[in-house]
Amino acid sequence: MTEPRAAAVITGAAGGIGRAIATAFAERGVAVVIADIRLDAAVAAAEQIAAETGAEAVGIAVDVTDSASVAELVSGALARFGRVDHLVNCAGMSLDGPSIEHTDEAWSKVVDLNLSGTFYVCRGFAPALIESHGTIVNISSIAAFSATRPEVHVGYDATKAAIAALTRTLAVEWAPQGVRVNAVAPGYTNTELLKDVGASNPETMDAWLSQTPQRRLMEPAEIAEVVLFLSLPASRAITAQTIIADGGYTAAK
Ligand SMILES: NC(=O)c1ccc[n+]([C@@H]2O[C@H](COP(=O)([O-])OP(=O)(O)OC[C@H]3O[C@@H](n4cnc5c(N)ncnc54)[C@H](O)[C@@H]3O)[C@@H](O)[C@H]2O)c1
Repeated sequence: MTEPRAAAVITGAAGGIGRAIATAFAERGVAVVIADIRLDAAVAAAEQIAAETGAEAVGIAVDVTDSASVAELVSGALARFGRVDHLVNCAGMSLDGPSIEHTDEAWSKVVDLNLSGTFYVCRGFAPALIESHGTIVNISSIAAFSATRPEVHVGYDATKAAIAALTRTLAVEWAPQGVRVNAVAPGYTNTELLKDVGASNPETMDAWLSQTPQRRLMEPAEIAEVVLFLSLPASRAITAQTIIADGGYTAAK
């Protein structure tokens, strides 16, 4: 095994924003681990990214809500690349509906994935990142700053705000060891899920677009560029921050 110059692990990278982030790293020659609960899709994404960019890419199955599975991801990534320089926590989900009808099960599902999963993965990779003086970027959301409307997403909003606090605490704790921890809060981003919302619920999409000063969805590749900036030495003075990339949405709300 030849150790690559740098390696990045991206959770939830089999599709959507995570895949765009993995592609952005790979385009700069960084070896990437596509870590996702959907192994087949992760392996397919890794093969395509490797073919398109020439960078090394591997798909590894992980359930981020299970710390034993996270431990296997950590050893799998280190076995493959010998180092981890960048971690991006992108696996996440949302369940909508009136809060009074939000069941224990729905609440736990969202908290386990968005918040506990992000913590387990940060904790699991911390020793490797301390060794490499690496970076973490957690994917939060505009939901951390403003209530998602018109549909209500109580667990999502709460967990995405908690990610900002988690990011701050870990950043302050690990700064002396050379690890930077930041978050990105995307606005409504042009993924398959959002395309489905646009098709099935055009009023919701109209509301989101009309409340966004740029009057458009963000593109996954644009979010990836922000993540990349926060992972590279150009941003070396920045840690503990949540950077909003939303076309002005939170400022205008
Ligand atoms: N799309 C948007 O408009 C938007 C806006 C703001 C924030 N975000 C955030 O960006 C991130 C990615 O969103 P997306 O739109 O690309 O969603 P997506 O559903 O396309 O991607 C989420 C990925 O996470 C994976 N995943 C689900 N459960 C997992 C688990 N237990 N362990 C490991 N992987 C798991 C899924 O298989 C999927 O590939 C999420 O955290 C989301 O909250 C999205």
